[in-house]
Amino acid sequence: MTKSIRVFAPATVANIAAGFDVLGMAVHTPGDEVEITLNDSGIITLDLITGDEGKLPRDPEKNIVSAVVKLYLQKRNMSFGASISLHKKMPFGSGLGSSSASAVAGLVAINALMEQPWSRKDLLPLAMEGERLACGSAHADNVAPSLLGGVVLIRSYMPLDVVSLPVPKGVFISLVYPHVNVPTGEARKIIKPQVLLKDAITQWGNVGGIVAGFCLHDLDLIGRSMQDVIIEPIRAILIPHFYNMKQLAIENGAIGFSISGSGPTVFALSKSEAVAHDITQKLSDLLFKNGLKSDTFVSEINPIGAKIL
Ligand code: HSE
Repeated sequence: MTKSIRVFAPATVANIAAGFDVLGMAVHTPGDEVEITLNDSGIITLDLITGDEGKLPRDPEKNIVSAVVKLYLQKRNMSFGASISLHKKMPFGSGLGSSSASAVAGLVAINALMEQPWSRKDLLPLAMEGERLACGSAHADNVAPSLLGGVVLIRSYMPLDVVSLPVPKGVFISLVYPHVNVPTGEARKIIKPQVLLKDAITQWGNVGGIVAGFCLHDLDLIGRSMQDVIIEPIRAILIPHFYNMKQLAIENGAIGFSISGSGPTVFALSKSEAVAHDITQKLSDLLFKNGLKSDTFVSEINPIGAKIL
């Protein structure tokens, strides 16, 4: 038996400013691709990884893609073998949900090879296990939008309750990834476990504002709700020139600006593609003048999520 499939899964902007661990959205580019060929060997092998400069684990027990594919087959009591190729087409350790995109691509591929017995939402807990392996925390705000597409609210973790929000047209996301290393696990450890009630009130008002903004297609409401008074002030210190970039983005037409996931990528939302490109260029120039290289991307919200190629 030889059956093969290749899947693309997109990068994601987790948190969307105020919604730490509960909001995320998918972009069109960048993303990762995984190809799986099913066989009868009963063994899962990781035969090829490209685009990672040799940095990701080759051991199938430690690599996220092979680990979640194995988990999927175990949960379904299936004894197939699988040969996996992972093509990294996005930076990792960047705040763009790189490990999530890989895990999601692997799960969507193996499920498609089994002729789709599970829905995308059924795959979510397994993708979250991949996240636990990657950074020690099974949060869903990257994997859910990469799997489901669009903008996703994780209303509750126990029990898992995931809500897809309407995706307005005409929202453009500028992404700028400064070349500094911010591992997600580390960026989570520096967050304080307690928050002040006054900050919580501001934050949940803003989370409500972002959700309402997507539901009402009110981009200005989304923009003025993109205020994170709890996590951003702590993580901003890990991102060089964060506040200068924020000011520059807002002065140049962004409706909101914050950290993508755990950083160091930052993102801005704007109402026009030209403005979004202009912002990425200006932010990248600012970093360059200060001795830092960066990668930039401009995308609308990806309403589809992972797709079979
Ligand atoms: N919500 C997560 C965080 C996303 O901010 O740590 C990063 O994976």
